[in-house]
Amino acid sequence: MVVTKKSFPDLVYLNGEWLSHDSAYVSVFDRGYMLGDGIYEVIPVYKGKPFALEGHMTRFQNGLNAVAIDFNVGDLQPLLLECLRRSSLDSSDAAIYVQVTRGVAPRTHFFPEGVRPSILLYAYPITLKGFESKLAGVIVSEDIRWHRCDIKSISLMANVQANNEAHRQGVLENLLSRDGYITEGSHTSVFFVKDNTVYTHPEGHHILPGITRKVVIGLCEKLGFAFKEEAVRTDEMKYVDEVFLTGTTVQITAVTSVRVDGNEVFKTEDGGPLTKRLQRAFIDYVAAEIDR
Ligand SMILES: Cc1ncc(COP(=O)(O)O)c(C=O)c1O
Repeated sequence: MVVTKKSFPDLVYLNGEWLSHDSAYVSVFDRGYMLGDGIYEVIPVYKGKPFALEGHMTRFQNGLNAVAIDFNVGDLQPLLLECLRRSSLDSSDAAIYVQVTRGVAPRTHFFPEGVRPSILLYAYPITLKGFESKLAGVIVSEDIRWHRCDIKSISLMANVQANNEAHRQGVLENLLSRDGYITEGSHTSVFFVKDNTVYTHPEGHHILPGITRKVVIGLCEKLGFAFKEEAVRTDEMKYVDEVFLTGTTVQITAVTSVRVDGNEVFKTEDGGPLTKRLQRAFIDYVAAEIDR
């Protein structure tokens, strides 16, 4: 499963204005453009309803606070729904991209004072249905990211390099290995199943606290699965029974092939039994949440 083509959204919200994508401009001195100095979030929308909005907004606020960008994400809430309405996505499956940068100022490494953050958001249609029948291949490479991967920074150089390598090799994701342990994917969280126990890397500075990851951990508990927030060694992947990715867009996607240095260390024909039960439970959970 390889994602290729994307198109621009018709409409974007930029600093108080609703604009077509080709007339939305920021200053070259916006610190997001110049320094990657900003935080972003991607929120899934099922049938026009944002899912796990509170979790996404809390993570967004935490990220902004962590880098001292003075912005209250509560101000965005009405804009998200307005964006869906204006984009005619208020009854569709979609995603909302939102970013806040420190704003426009003469270039300095220190934080400038008295600068207004720049806000960009837009919604775009995505296919959320049918994720449970998708199968993904992954490769593994060294995790060269910084030590605050819990902050959803718009500076994604290491992530895009990693994912580009996966794309180049015709697979969906690149799992990242730090000090001999798998942390997460370039844009997904990763779970392993071994002897009917589900494993994923613990929260901390070396992974993003995935919102889907949290939902899946809750489902493991609900289903009575043994679960350990414990990192899996990169050289142990050949012994695992199941591998799956989680994330806003992939939801829960089964991994059927893991290649390390060109060698396939894990291979299955289909998603494993625990992955399938979690996928089913996830579908039910989302349906119940959006009907609430
Ligand atoms: C590095 C990384 N890990 C994990 C995830 C999954 O997070 P979520 O489930 O909140 O989409 C993402 C999503 O963008 C990501 O970029």
